[in-house]
Amino acid sequence: MNNQLKTNNGEILVVDDTHANLKLLMDMLTSNDYKVRPALDGEQALAAVAMRCPDLILLDIKMPGIDGYEVCRRLKNDVRTQEIPVIFISALDALGDRVKGFELGAVDYITKPFQREEVLVRVHTHMQLRKMQINLEDLVDKRTEQLQQSTIKMRSVLIQMIKAFSVTVEKRDPYTAGHQQRVADLAVAIAQEMALHEDMIEGIRLGTLIHDIGKIYVPAEFLNRPGKLTELEFQIIKIHPEAGYEIVRDVEFPWPVADMIYQHHERADGSGYPRGLIGDEIIQEARIIAVADVVEAIASHRPYRASLGTDFALQEIEKNRGVLFDPYVVDACVKLFREKHFNLT
Ligand SMILES: [Fe+2]
Repeated sequence: MNNQLKTNNGEILVVDDTHANLKLLMDMLTSNDYKVRPALDGEQALAAVAMRCPDLILLDIKMPGIDGYEVCRRLKNDVRTQEIPVIFISALDALGDRVKGFELGAVDYITKPFQREEVLVRVHTHMQLRKMQINLEDLVDKRTEQLQQSTIKMRSVLIQMIKAFSVTVEKRDPYTAGHQQRVADLAVAIAQEMALHEDMIEGIRLGTLIHDIGKIYVPAEFLNRPGKLTELEFQIIKIHPEAGYEIVRDVEFPWPVADMIYQHHERADGSGYPRGLIGDEIIQEARIIAVADVVEAIASHRPYRASLGTDFALQEIEKNRGVLFDPYVVDACVKLFREKHFNLT
């Protein structure tokens, strides 16, 4: 979490076991508008940080108890404190000491005796860098939030558009009004029962809502009239999966919607249409839509017959379990109705 700079130039924790050094540094920083907190050893330093994160730490190395290196190591190993810039300020001036300090994650290393101007300018530089880092992180958070909001909005617009298309197709065929919505509700319930991934279920919802969109090419009188269809009329109706595929083929959905439409009348044994695909050649989404479509169709009223009822619909898919239909999809569908009292509304 970002630790906003608090007062004026920010808050600095100064850690030094020598009172004189501590006072000198505190006076110098305070007179330059920094808020300063003192700590006389490693224990006090860690306690002070735990109480409230400073914006920067000036850290002596040689101290009784926990030394400066260990304090730094612990701060860098804790996600709550690892972002705080640490500047070592020490009489140890060997190259190895300085390298060790940087390796532990310090942003700078000042040797004692120090020059007042040098300390101030280095502190100022690292405070500015820290401010810029915090601003950048805030900006990224804000932009990410905006992006997420616009993605949510786009998805919602997409669903509304798909529903509008769905209703448009069904307007021409009042006997099957609501068919695609009911099939979508059942297909989603089956997919949830099969514990499929949430994103895949969202794709199934959208694909199923327009699975019959190709019927827009079928003359309305074939769709509306009561009585059995002639073989020729049936042949024309059978073009609708391919026609639907052609309509949405170039839309870049994040799901295989075009194939769901194309394959929803395929059957596992190859007896479906339009391509006679077999088993796994049919995508899982289409295997689910196929079962939901058949159950809804049998259980609904049609121009040429009354509803045959849900029980009959379930018997039909059970009879064809593993033959026409994916057995896992059939099992999930049957379980929904018989054990979980699913209703086609
Ligand atoms: Fe269909």
